[in-house]
Amino acid sequence: MRIHVVDHPLVAHKLTTLRDERTDSPTFRRLADELVTLLAYEATRDVRTEQVDIVTPVAPTIGVRLSHPRPLVVPILRAGLGMLEGLMRLLPTAEVGFLGMIRDEQTLQAKTYATRMPEDLSGRQVYVLDPMLATGGTLIAAIELLIERGADDVTAVVLLASPEGVETMERQLTGLPVTVVTAAVDERLNEHGYIVPGLGDAGDRLYGTVG
Ligand code: URA
Repeated sequence: MRIHVVDHPLVAHKLTTLRDERTDSPTFRRLADELVTLLAYEATRDVRTEQVDIVTPVAPTIGVRLSHPRPLVVPILRAGLGMLEGLMRLLPTAEVGFLGMIRDEQTLQAKTYATRMPEDLSGRQVYVLDPMLATGGTLIAAIELLIERGADDVTAVVLLASPEGVETMERQLTGLPVTVVTAAVDERLNEHGYIVPGLGDAGDRLYGTVG
């Protein structure tokens, strides 16, 4: 597994506003969307392309286009939905699958409650979206499912990561074709499984609290 922390002043600026507890939901959604587009620029560095012959108004030349099969983008519901448009802005022809996962707040284990994506992901590049890499449980379960279905290159785009989550992923996904792209790796996880200093509950900050 590889991890790439995107070190850019605009990323740090947007992340700081996302962290601020005074940032309201509409602003949080807009900034999360913008931040994902910046992360997506780095995350798609190895997106597969093929050569194509074209003719410009001046001369024939050889260019590139995204190869087939198209990449698959998989937001993890619910909070990953707030990242979808930000990524699709750069990959508008990608296909989209959905994975519903919820973390049991007592055991911190991930449970899958909905899956909507191709059964066969052989040869597919997949971008999985989840704002917070906290314990790593949800992302590991999601990535294992994608690789079981045949995905041969998985990039997880997360806004924030904890050192504990990164270490667990590195241990459990050793040798697998997985990259994590994030805006920052924070200090630690607290006893409730929240990232410190973090930004709070990403789903609640995007969409409001649900009981
Ligand atoms: N999920 C969140 O939304 N925030 C955290 O800090 C950890 C997990």
